[in-house]
Amino acid sequence: MISVKEAFQKFRSGLELTEREQNDASRRQKDIRGYMDECFHVQRDFLTGSYKRWTKTKPLKDVDIFFVLGEDERPYRAKHPSVLLSRVEGKLVEKYGRDCVKCQRRSVSVEFGVAGEDERVLSFDVVPAYDKDHHYEIPDTNSKTGWTDTDPEIHAEKATAANKAFGGEWKGMVRMIKRWNVEKGKPVRPSFLLEVMALDLLRPPFGGDYPYEFESFLSSAAARIHEEWPEPARLGPPVSDIMATADKDQAKSALQQASDSAREAINLGRQGQNGEALKAYRRLFGDLFPLS
Ligand SMILES: Nc1ncnc2c1ncn2[C@@H]1O[C@H](COP(=O)(O)OP(=O)(O)OP(=O)(O)O)[C@@H](O)[C@H]1O
Ligand SMILES: [Mg+2]
Repeated sequence: MISVKEAFQKFRSGLELTEREQNDASRRQKDIRGYMDECFHVQRDFLTGSYKRWTKTKPLKDVDIFFVLGEDERPYRAKHPSVLLSRVEGKLVEKYGRDCVKCQRRSVSVEFGVAGEDERVLSFDVVPAYDKDHHYEIPDTNSKTGWTDTDPEIHAEKATAANKAFGGEWKGMVRMIKRWNVEKGKPVRPSFLLEVMALDLLRPPFGGDYPYEFESFLSSAAARIHEEWPEPARLGPPVSDIMATADKDQAKSALQQASDSAREAINLGRQGQNGEALKAYRRLFGDLFPLS
């Protein structure tokens, strides 16, 4: 039978994007890029967010693309952010259809079916952005000023540094933690908050014991979910600003329950009940957690 450590390693690798998924994403990105170029004065565009940082979980959804707009598009900056977002939305609807395009707080999402699969979708968050000093400004309909400063470079650097300090296991742990969150109906929102918390709560060095690291992360996260979690580059609003207190209460209890379940699974493993321990981890992380 597979050991708990092997099962976690297999689970972690299974959450890495396959070449096919990356090719699919890259093809669609080029398609959107070509079209956005026709509609707007785009200076440059790039993939960003958790997709770019390798902290995205499966199934692959919401791949972020920044479109840095040129001077011709500056006038939108003086208007309410919904004007720019609506304009982007309208253009994307013309090409991809009303049902596949949705306006969000900071971006416009576009959804595609995945070749050969009936129910799966691949979606993109199209984020219009302006250069500002050495970082970017993006629309944000929830913020007072209507715009949020952000620096994806800094987020990427922090993730890379954390991964290195944690023996190359940090990004894999973040993908697994995000998978838990999806499995439980997203008690923690946004999922970027889990990544931000992991910068603090996954303390290096990695001890080699996944269950122990999870239990420790989950119990610390439960204890600290009500705190304010600043955006790592200290440019945008706190990442913890989406959830209201009642949402945080629910997130706390979900995290605490998960930590308790991890502890029980660890005990099962210690008692030599390997098969039962694996099933317990599957209850925590869902069907992508391997039993063999
Ligand atoms: N409050 C914020 N202030 C500034 N930048 C932010 C803030 N929240 C998110 N970002 C940046 O925008 C990117 C995209 O946001 P998003 O919510 O899609 O997170 P994500 O890390 O891509 O996670 P997910 O796996 O859910 O897509 C983040 O990766 C981060 O770089
Ligand atoms: Mg994203």
